[in-house]
Amino acid sequence: MFTLRDFMGATQVILPTDEAHGKGMVQLLMNAPLESVVKVTGTVRKRPDGLENKNMNTGAIEILACDFKVLNRCKEILPFHVHDFKEVKEPLRMQYRYLDLRNKKMQHNIRLRSKLANDMRQFLCKHGFVEVETPTLFRKTPGGAREFIVPSQQKGKFYTLPQSPQQFKQLLMVGGIDRYFQFARCYRDEGARIDRQPEFTQVDLEMSFVEQDDILSLTEELIKSAWPEDKGQLQIPFPRMSYSTAIKKYGTDKPDTRFQMLVEDVTECFSKTKIFQSSNDEDKDDFIYKAINIKGGVNHLSNRELKLLEKEAKRRFNYKITIMKMIDNNQFISQISKYLPNDVQKNLSEVMKAEPGDIIILGGGRTFPICSLLGYLRKLVASLLEGKGIKIQDPDAFNFVWVNNFPLFMPKEDCDISLETTHHPFTAPIAEHQDMIYTKPEKVCGQHYDLVLNGFEIAGGSLRIHDEKLQRYVLEDVLKEDASSLEHLLQALQSGCPPHGGIAVGFDRLMAILCGESTIREVIAFPKTGEGNDLMSNAPALISEELLNEYNIQLIDDDNNS
Ligand code: AMO
Repeated sequence: MFTLRDFMGATQVILPTDEAHGKGMVQLLMNAPLESVVKVTGTVRKRPDGLENKNMNTGAIEILACDFKVLNRCKEILPFHVHDFKEVKEPLRMQYRYLDLRNKKMQHNIRLRSKLANDMRQFLCKHGFVEVETPTLFRKTPGGAREFIVPSQQKGKFYTLPQSPQQFKQLLMVGGIDRYFQFARCYRDEGARIDRQPEFTQVDLEMSFVEQDDILSLTEELIKSAWPEDKGQLQIPFPRMSYSTAIKKYGTDKPDTRFQMLVEDVTECFSKTKIFQSSNDEDKDDFIYKAINIKGGVNHLSNRELKLLEKEAKRRFNYKITIMKMIDNNQFISQISKYLPNDVQKNLSEVMKAEPGDIIILGGGRTFPICSLLGYLRKLVASLLEGKGIKIQDPDAFNFVWVNNFPLFMPKEDCDISLETTHHPFTAPIAEHQDMIYTKPEKVCGQHYDLVLNGFEIAGGSLRIHDEKLQRYVLEDVLKEDASSLEHLLQALQSGCPPHGGIAVGFDRLMAILCGESTIREVIAFPKTGEGNDLMSNAPALISEELLNEYNIQLIDDDNNS
């Protein structure tokens, strides 16, 4: 008797015991190492009473074999046992991904991914969308994520791999394909993280003659149409939140709405005190106080962990925070308590709805960085508490939220006076702000929306600029980009381009959250490491001198370069 595994599950097989051919089959079985490929011919029968295995899906039946063949022997020693994959380090799993894929979890994730893709495709086709493949050899154009470049045999000329089919889908709208979709491969040379891969998949859509609401509701319907039944009913429409509320309340444009601990504004409480504010503080006009309340934190977080929060605030944001423990009603223990009159402490505890045993984390500074800091600590505290088994969020919850009303432009990170786009340079301003682009571009609101699920951005899109003059102005005058490499798009906008807009769903991210995985690598058949390496084939790899010459590439010696 042995257990036969195929990709539908496992089944018990009984080999005949008679001398004539049973013995030979047993011999073959004994000589076949685990993971060998075998063929069994036989009859399915009910297991004898009392011998059923309730822990197996197929535990009520077995196969009585009449023939048994070994089609391909597996080598004796594999790098790891398929069953033990949980104990295997990820690099080894990635190196032998073909073995890793055999484990139950990967089988589930990859098959569910295929099912979702299929259901989404059917939904889109039913709603009049046309699937179009766009090129993956493209050219460098301004803006957006860092692109991979691909050498060509034309001296000094390079292709790029598209970071998304953005320009092509807009050109398709000009070309009369008024409803486009594609499961598009996208490439971004930005390293990998838990939610980021250098190559990934978008469910990419574009539509002509639409408003923002049309795109949002279509996306909701699309996700609902493919949502697995066992994950519960999906409630649509999803809630919406403006960018500024997301920043103020959650400290991020990717709000995780599965738990509270919101970032509260307590500036009023400190109107008469000046803690954190230095006499020469340049940002007095934009100086606010923000706080979060860790309910029952005194019992859950050690002083060492609280110190860690302070260190993180300093290291990542260069801000000092104050930790205030509420021991007695309206009285806090903290380094600044002696500077805070009783009425300030009372006021603070009321605004924060603090009770004895709670911990308040307080910070002061410019709006954006201080909100971001408190939002970051909110998530960090939640994961610290969850790590201790304290339930902060429902592990089965799927909290979708649309974030919209983004500013069209933001100050560049390294230079406050230059602007960069919040989404991409093709995003249209809201109609009421169109004229302001020419006078106060930094105040303009864009027609851009992101879909956030459990704190991860799983989709992003916008209505596009379809007026050539406005697009050229945005590129050249606001963003100070050389628009010559976008002449094809600008020409197309002059050639009878319908108003249009779209969205791209990050398919890997959606799948990872759906499968309850903490990284998108677990839903990708052949993912890359953080450094962008494929550990199985060792890509990227060196190429021969001959090939380098063919592509006119000369390698610079590191020693000569330094
Ligand atoms: P955006 O850059 O916001 O928009 O990308 C859309 C969605 O793609 C996913 N995503 C990623 N997933 C895995 N690895 C990555 N490196 C990665 N980068 C992005 C995210 C994101 O929300 N052309 C526009 C869409 C449009 O305007 O229609 C675009 O690409 O889930």
